[in-house]
Amino acid sequence: MNKERILGQHLTSTSIFKRFILPKIKDKLKDYAWVDLYCGEGNLILPILETIKTEERENFFSEHIFLFDSDSEMIEKAVQNAIKLGISEELARKNIKQHDSLASFPKIESKFPIFHITNPPYLYIGYIQKNAKQHLKYFQDKNKGYQDLYQIALINDLKNNIEKSVYIIPSNFLFSSSGTNKIRRDFLQAYKITNAVIFEKKIFENTGTNVAIFWFEKKQESKKPIKFTALKITENEEKRREYSLTYENNYRAGSEFSEFCNNQNNNLRVNYYLMQSEVEKNSGNTEIEVINSNKYKNNKYSKEVIRVNEKLAAKIKNNILFIRTVDSGSNLRAGLYEIKDEFKVDGILVSIPYRTNPIQLFFTPELSIEQQIKLKDYFNSKLEELREKTDSEFMTTYKYSKAKYTRKYLGLSQVKKLIQTFSLD
Ligand SMILES: C[S@@+](CC[C@H](N)C(=O)[O-])C[C@H]1O[C@@H](n2cnc3c(N)ncnc32)[C@H](O)[C@@H]1O
Repeated sequence: MNKERILGQHLTSTSIFKRFILPKIKDKLKDYAWVDLYCGEGNLILPILETIKTEERENFFSEHIFLFDSDSEMIEKAVQNAIKLGISEELARKNIKQHDSLASFPKIESKFPIFHITNPPYLYIGYIQKNAKQHLKYFQDKNKGYQDLYQIALINDLKNNIEKSVYIIPSNFLFSSSGTNKIRRDFLQAYKITNAVIFEKKIFENTGTNVAIFWFEKKQESKKPIKFTALKITENEEKRREYSLTYENNYRAGSEFSEFCNNQNNNLRVNYYLMQSEVEKNSGNTEIEVINSNKYKNNKYSKEVIRVNEKLAAKIKNNILFIRTVDSGSNLRAGLYEIKDEFKVDGILVSIPYRTNPIQLFFTPELSIEQQIKLKDYFNSKLEELREKTDSEFMTTYKYSKAKYTRKYLGLSQVKKLIQTFSLD
């Protein structure tokens, strides 16, 4: 398990390769050298052999298949798998080699252009700094600023002028910002995406990371938008969605939300949480009924009565909204709600803040009750509109769960930005 984690060894099932990748390459098998620089047991390339006549396989393999992995055990398994498919051991060992492909590009002797099909290791730099320091060397010099091993794999392809590739990598490559802006900006100026399959469900046994398959093709360096259609696969449906990624937006998908939030209409300050410490500092004689969001039992938050001074009592009573940051069921959507409606109390107390619990909002300057209700209606309808438009892509998929629906999480800074687009006039 540990080795799996440190080397990012999550193997692709051959069925994924056969359903999504093979049909798109089967007519050009003899035109390329099929390479996987992080091959594991060879699941992403060796099944090609099944489509080649038995008597031609040895020849085909010698010119068209080249596999590498840094782990000798994986190499041994890949060699055995090639042998099972009819390749001689000598040739299997010649074209399937142990190599550190993140450090350098291996020598590949083939007259055909390389087509790289891979599912490289994924390991976030934060994790590497704490638990896998041996990988820090890949992030030095020109690779400074990249955030994950898979990004090093991509950028090595760019440096080595690989024309075509298929990568299975975290879908965050397309959707997130801070950790992926640099790789998208650098890589997608040189490559276009011609096709993608985005999984919103688990495809590897031991990791809940959502992944996507991307088809990349070298283009003339350019800042033109990249347009492509992707197949999106969730637990219960498959649909097609069009994407247009722009250089100005760091080629990030789902940017409609942040673009909309540029229309800032007010300067409201929003503070989150009624903290236990604030209640203690403002003790007094006014009784207020609250729920304690850290105490959840039998599907309910427990109710408490707190005693505070008049100033804090007024502040609690005058701020009537809470934010639900996570969809909690098919009909309990993320959004703004009234505390009274939902919990029949005036406030939501927390001792330890959790961003996924209901959170009371406090506005400065204060808003009238009427304004807050208008804000709530505005916020929820805008949020739904943007979710509809982008298939909720600006939200984070919140943990993998067996539930039928996909739970989406709206970040607190996004909540603030959307609130700031509300016109107070
Ligand atoms: C996510 S697995 C995928 C394996 C295979 N491509 C598949 O899809 O089944 C990543 C593989 O990269 C290998 N790996 C990790 N670091 C490597 C490095 N520096 N050079 C080459 N391979 C490496 C791991 O041993 C692992 O087998």
